[in-house]
Amino acid sequence: MKIPGNTILITGGGSGIGFETAKLFARSGNTVIITGRNLSKLQKASEASENIVFIQCDVTDEVQVKNLVSKLEDEFGGLNILMNNAGLAYMNPHNNPKDIYKIATEEMSTNYLSVVNLTTQLLPLLEKQNEAAIINVSSIVAMSPSVGIATYSASKAALHAYTQTLRAHLAKTGTIKVFDVMPPLVDTDFAKDIPSESKLSPLAVAEAIINGVKNNNDEIHMGLTEIFHQNFFSQSATAFATMNPSN
Ligand SMILES: NC(=O)c1ccc[n+]([C@@H]2O[C@H](COP(=O)([O-])OP(=O)(O)OC[C@H]3O[C@@H](n4cnc5c(N)ncnc54)[C@H](OP(=O)(O)O)[C@@H]3O)[C@@H](O)[C@H]2O)c1
Repeated sequence: MKIPGNTILITGGGSGIGFETAKLFARSGNTVIITGRNLSKLQKASEASENIVFIQCDVTDEVQVKNLVSKLEDEFGGLNILMNNAGLAYMNPHNNPKDIYKIATEEMSTNYLSVVNLTTQLLPLLEKQNEAAIINVSSIVAMSPSVGIATYSASKAALHAYTQTLRAHLAKTGTIKVFDVMPPLVDTDFAKDIPSESKLSPLAVAEAIINGVKNNNDEIHMGLTEIFHQNFFSQSATAFATMNPSN
């Protein structure tokens, strides 16, 4: 897919992986619209490049999402790349039986259901474009769950499954590519409470995303994810093809 000349929405683009990807896309001649809940974070992030603008939006709020979709259509004339990146996680949910249902609901709503909602609402705009893409940021834990972030892992597995089926469904359009970004542990606010010496930088993830999109790699792996996938999941494409013989 071509990199300059796109209009790109990045949810959760005010920090971390989304922000680094926004800066790289903006510097490569694209218009980037970032969203998030925290206004001051968005304002500061948009100052990084004149090609970055922001719209405040909580992806779990249906009214705010409707307003976002209208603004994209009315003020930007649509978009051709949607990057579903907003996400959150709670540590050790099994140790917190009092709150585990509340936690799992918030994670599922933010990391999975909001992606289904926003994607579905933006598909009519994406379908109007000659070339379009949906980039979903899942995680290495979508392949193999982590006990420490159990309910988060389940939400990312749901997102990964949805992304696989969306790719197969939209392949018939011939114009909308669907990418799945599967980062390992990355050095952002999100992972600040997870001790590790081997966190990848958010810039390295952003670079892998741009390269993956440029080279049309359906699943975008980086760092540990690549090794993990090669060792344990090299047959996943075959398994999916067996499950879906007509696609
Ligand atoms: N860091 C890692 O180790 C790692 C590994 C694999 C996958 N990921 C995934 O990468 C994505 C980006 O995370 P990150 O590591 O870059 O962490 P981050 O800096 O905390 O970014 C997460 C972003 O999501 C936004 N967000 C959260 N809930 C939202 C909501 N309801 N509506 C709108 N925006 C919301 C936050 O902005 P506001 O607070 O302003 O809303 C924030 O900008 C997430 O999907 C995460 O699951 C991260």
